[in-house]
Amino acid sequence: MTTEPGNPDQIAYWNAKTGDTWAELQDQLDRQLAPLGARAQAALAPRAGERILDVGCGCGDTTLALAKAVGPAGEVVGLDISRPMLEVARRRAAEGGAKARFVEADAQTATLEGGFDGLYSRFGVMFFADPAAAFRNLLGALKPGGRLAFVCWRPFNEVEYLGLPLRAALAVLPEAPPPADPFAPGPFAFGDADRTRRILDEAGFADIDIQPFDTPIGSGGLEETVALTQRIGPLGNLLRESPDLAAAAIAAVREALSAHDGPDGVRLNGAVWIVTARKQG
Ligand SMILES: C[S@@+](CC[C@H](N)C(=O)[O-])C[C@H]1O[C@@H](n2cnc3c(N)ncnc32)[C@H](O)[C@@H]1O
Repeated sequence: MTTEPGNPDQIAYWNAKTGDTWAELQDQLDRQLAPLGARAQAALAPRAGERILDVGCGCGDTTLALAKAVGPAGEVVGLDISRPMLEVARRRAAEGGAKARFVEADAQTATLEGGFDGLYSRFGVMFFADPAAAFRNLLGALKPGGRLAFVCWRPFNEVEYLGLPLRAALAVLPEAPPPADPFAPGPFAFGDADRTRRILDEAGFADIDIQPFDTPIGSGGLEETVALTQRIGPLGNLLRESPDLAAAAIAAVREALSAHDGPDGVRLNGAVWIVTARKQG
């Protein structure tokens, strides 16, 4: 059963401050997420001449990487709900002469083009109000035998890159935020691999495989990283709620991150699932 009208809250969210922030900081975020997206691309194994749909493509970094892999005989379509992020993606594609198109639509409810050889996503599929309906819709865009590969976060407490700064700040903030629903649409909604498997199974995918992948990630030096934690993710929201304690919390975050600062900048473990599946051929 499809949830109507889809994902209005997420459409509002990614077209307001968050979308603008991602558009502004995309180079830094791309550096951070690139090794994780590359692992999912390797799992998809796009071939020359194929058509690939990049779901929740954001500012298009992965769409352009996929376009390079499928070459001039192939085609990549980036799908997203965020206008400010799609603007960056379209500009990047035009500047790089990439064979990529971008569509602004909700992956859960949009009538999608068909005939894709592959569905790919880097952290763009965890925000659906009805994930099984969304993946059923996406399955319809695949050719028989077509492949799915995406990367998503493991549970928050396993992702050192995001957890370490938040825990450092919480140590000086008066109250921890109330525990969030772990399955609510959001970055960690697919942290439980068994649930993700059930969703994909219910949607009709076959050959579902979910593998953990750990690798150090980072996007710059200490000050750049401290600044980023305040702009993106749960820490930023928390600091906005306790402005009088922000300076002490930021000092605690800086101290915690400085222990992981090295010649390549701040590097912390990014713990993800690499999820693959197939449409029955
Ligand atoms: C965490 S960002 C990742 C963006 C990009 N894939 C990257 O790795 O830089 C999540 C993306 O998913 C998009 N998104 C969320 N819900 C969506 C939906 N229902 N349909 C299409 N895109 C969606 C957001 O607009 C956002 O661009």
